Order: sequence, then structure tokens, then C-alpha cells
Amino acid sequence: MDGRLLAKGINSKEEEVSFDFSDSEEVQSTLSITVVGASGDLAKKKIFPALFALYYEDCLPENFMIFGYARSKLTDEELRNMISGTLTCRIDKRENCEDKMEQFLKRCFYHSGQYNSEENFAELDRKLKEKEGGKLSNRLFYLSIPPNIFVDVVRCASLKASSSNGWTRVIVEKPFGRDSESSAELTRSLKQYLTEDQIFRIDHYLGKELVENLSVLRFSNLVFEPLWSRNYIRNVQLIFSEDFGTEGRGGYFDHYGIIRDIMQNHLLQILALFAMETPVSLDAEDIRNEKVKVLRSMRPLQLEDVIVGQYKGHSKGGKTYQGYTDDATVPNNSLTPTFAAAALFINNARWDGVPFLMKAGKALHTKRAEIRVQFRHVPGNLFKRNFGTDLDKATNELVLRVQPDEAIYLKINNKVPGLGMRLDRSDLNLLYRARYPREIPDAYERLLLDAIAGERRLFIRSDELDAAWSLFTPLLKELEDKKIAPELYPYGSRGPVGAHYLAAKYNVRWG
Ligand code: NDP
Ligand code: BG6
Repeated sequence: MDGRLLAKGINSKEEEVSFDFSDSEEVQSTLSITVVGASGDLAKKKIFPALFALYYEDCLPENFMIFGYARSKLTDEELRNMISGTLTCRIDKRENCEDKMEQFLKRCFYHSGQYNSEENFAELDRKLKEKEGGKLSNRLFYLSIPPNIFVDVVRCASLKASSSNGWTRVIVEKPFGRDSESSAELTRSLKQYLTEDQIFRIDHYLGKELVENLSVLRFSNLVFEPLWSRNYIRNVQLIFSEDFGTEGRGGYFDHYGIIRDIMQNHLLQILALFAMETPVSLDAEDIRNEKVKVLRSMRPLQLEDVIVGQYKGHSKGGKTYQGYTDDATVPNNSLTPTFAAAALFINNARWDGVPFLMKAGKALHTKRAEIRVQFRHVPGNLFKRNFGTDLDKATNELVLRVQPDEAIYLKINNKVPGLGMRLDRSDLNLLYRARYPREIPDAYERLLLDAIAGERRLFIRSDELDAAWSLFTPLLKELEDKKIAPELYPYGSRGPVGAHYLAAKYNVRWG
């Protein structure tokens, strides 16, 4: 295997004893990854393919095995057939892909069981032990299941299937509750069986390449860090949009809505990383300490700083797109927002008064996730007259395009070549596909690799989660208590016009 896992470093005491892929130990220790909810969508779409990609890249230890666990009655062979169609050799298509897949699938097994049955988990334990052959065993459980059964699984797995001589860790998928209270209850329940160190709360946006790069860009380039404050930055925009609706996930979505689904986690995590002070080191605790400070410094969200929307049916080019409430799993009178925009503020010396605008929506005209940083005007700009009255157009803007087509570009003013003095807005453009032709790993690969290595930097600590919920819970409660009706917008449009009024209130134009 390559040196990547070793190079990641080992942080907590737990890891010192448990995770070592150096030659002698690797041979003697085993790693099992149990995907709970293996018959589900996420497992098929993301987890098994990510595990295969790690295997393909030689990032998994010598003695690893993967178990699928769910209620569906499947044999090992049926699990293998089910997942084989989703595995791709996307990184390097030349090399013996078929062989690799075959070898990988041989390491995949299945155990059918109930989620609340200690007996069924004890059976799983027996199967794991058999394959571990008495070696030091490290066990990772991935909870790819609906949240109402998280605690049952954790109870059964920790009581009956945790490792007796190595580490046991649990990756928990979102949603982590739906407000402060339910999230705290979930944390309390999980901690009856697990220590905080064993819980890896996943936010897959933290595993995205451009989000990881945010700190590198800021802290290792002299041209950016000095500008990273209210002195030079006018506003920051965090934008998430999808060009498809909630089809197939309506039941889940209607219970959560876009604010809980995207803003409270993915966009807020990006905001915290963006705005944090320089951490003492790159150690997970140092980074998470700084992120939590940002979240706790935020001004409570006001209802008048938020607008919500819901998509309605729309016909275009002879095709009809269903509205949100046309979904059979969504109540006809649902007020659940599928779009929201909000203005947030951080009450600290660095960011006082700078609007952080978030926008997230389903069924919009485009699919993209971006961080846009709009800078202030150049004081006394010598070239003012070249921009006419619209000086806003002359400000610099830094864009981190998280997806698709990853890129970082800086909008600058430039002289159009020629004899006159005409100015033009142009991009300094770092387009990833041009600069780094190699395909970018999926976020789940990075996160799984980190969980295996015990690296917690990209996972959410419980105090971060509490702070995130404290910010959004009063707003969500108010929206729901007052039954605020979302502004309807057509499927495939740019979303509710209210988002533009909200931005205009803070003198901002969406990028
Ligand atoms: P699924 O609805 O596909 O559920 C996964 C498995 O759990 C199912 O195959 C089923 O297995 C079992 N299951 C489903 N509903 C119930 C139930 N009510 N009671 C008991 N078992 C049930 O979920 P996903 O795979 O889509 O998602 C898994 C987790 O990941 C969820 O927490 C989700 O919120 C989160 N997530 C999903 C994303 C996605 O893209 N799908 C994205 C981000 C997060 P069986 O019947 O065989 O036991
Ligand atoms: C999930 C949300 O967390 O992220 C989904 O629950 C959303 O609603 C998804 O579609 C988006 O992830 P990505 O990686 O496809 O942008």
C-alpha cells in the first residue's frame, strides 16, 4: 500500500494503539467496514464505490473486509451482484480493472439482520471474528440508514459487535436531529454506547476538494489572508443549487426542508471554515475549536433576513415538470421550503457588518455549489470614469466553484489591449480540469479514508453541531409556528424573486 495513510498522522491516544499500517502490524491487524443499510441508495451510490476506489488506489490495508448489513434477505453473492454495477475504475482506466473488481468483491460479505436485534449483531460478530482469525481487529460501522434507527443500531453494535482488542468507530450520516433538542437527545443516546472519539458525524461537503482547499488558499497565500476581513470583503455568498427536485425523496425531505438539508450543515460548515481565525495547527481539535468559535459568534438569525420558496410544476419545451407537492409522498398543503436564502452575520472584530448570504434550492435552472467573495471598491479608483456609474461592476470577486467543473477564479479589471484605454472585467482562472487532468476523488473516499485513519478534521464535533442548531432552531421554529408560506417558483427557474430583494437590502447582487 502507499504511504498516504501513514502520512496522515495519528492524533488521539486511541490511534496510537490501534491504527498502524506499518509492515508488521498491518499483517497482524484486520479492518472490517460494516455498511449498515447496505441495501439502500447511499450505500450503492456512494459508499461501496468509494470503498472500491480506495481499494483500487491501494489505500486500504492488507487485511480488510466489508460487510453489508440490512434486513433485506441477500446472500454474499447477491450483494456482490448488486454493487458490482456501481463500481468504476474511474481514476486510472488502464490498469486491470476487472481483476481489481473481482478481488474487491471477494472481500465483500453480507449479513441479514434486524436493526434492533442484539442477537443478529452477535451473529455478525461471530462472522467477523471468524474472518479476523484472532488478529487485532479494527471495526468501522457506517450507519447508512434512516436516523430513527441510529440508536438501536449503535446499541446493538456496541454491545454485541464491537472490537475486543482494537478500535471501534461509527460513521453517522446526517440528519443529526431536526432541531437543538432532538440533536442533543441523539447525541446523549449515542454517548450511552460510544465516546465522542468513536463518533464520526459526516458532512460530505467537508470532503469536497474545493472545500478542503479553502484553508490552503487562504492560509498559504500571502495575497489572500491579509484581505480576509471586513476591511476588504464586502460580502460572501454561499450558493447551492440543484437542477432537479426531491423526486423519490419527498417523504424524507418534507420532514426536513432545505434549511435543515443543506444550510444548517453543508453551507454553514463552509462558512465556518471560511471565516475562522488561523488555527493553532492543522490538528483536528485546533481547527474545530476555531470553527465552533465562529458559529458561536453569529448573530441570531432574524425572520426578516430569510426568505423561503417552494417549486411548483412547470412545462417547458413540451416537457412537464412536477411541482413539489405533486409528489405522492408529500402532503398537498405542505409548506416545506425547497428553496431558502438568508443573510447571516458574525459578530466579531474580523467580520462585523459583513453579510454572509446563503442560498440553497432544489429544482432550479442549474446545478452548482459556489463560494463567492465580493471585495470592496478600490478607494479613489483612478479609473472610475471607465466604469460609468456602475462602480459595483469594477470590484474584484473571488469565486471557488465547488462543483461542477471545479475552479477558482478571480475577477479582475484589465486593460483591453489596444491603443485606447478601455477596461474590461476578466478572470484569472484556475480551472481544475485544465491544470489537474486527473479525476478528483469523491468526497466519500476522503472521508472514509480519514475515518479509517482516525483523522477527525473533516467530521463534526458535538459542540459544533450544538452551535449550528442553536443558530437555526429559533428561526425554524418561528417559520413553522407562524406557518410562513413559501414563495412559489417554477421548476427550473432561478428561484423566488424574494432572494433578490433580500440581497438588495444589504446592497448585494447575487453572483
Ligand atoms: P434508504 O431510505 O435507502 O435506507 C437505507 C436502508 O435502510 C434501506 O435499504 C432499508 O434497508 C433500510 N430502511 C429504510 N427505511 C427504513 C425504516 N423505516 N426502518 C428500518 N429500516 C429502513 O436511505 P439512503 O440510503 O438514501 O440514506 C441513508 C442515510 O444517509 C440516511 O440517513 C440519509 O438521510 C443519509 N443521506 C442520504 C443521501 C443520499 O443521497 N441517499 C445523501 C446524504 C445523506 P432494509 O429494508 O434492507 O433493512
Ligand atoms: C445531501 C442532501 O446531503 O446532499 C441532498 O440531503 C443533496 O438533498 C445532496 O442532494 C447534494 O450532495 P452533492 O454532493 O450531490 O452536491
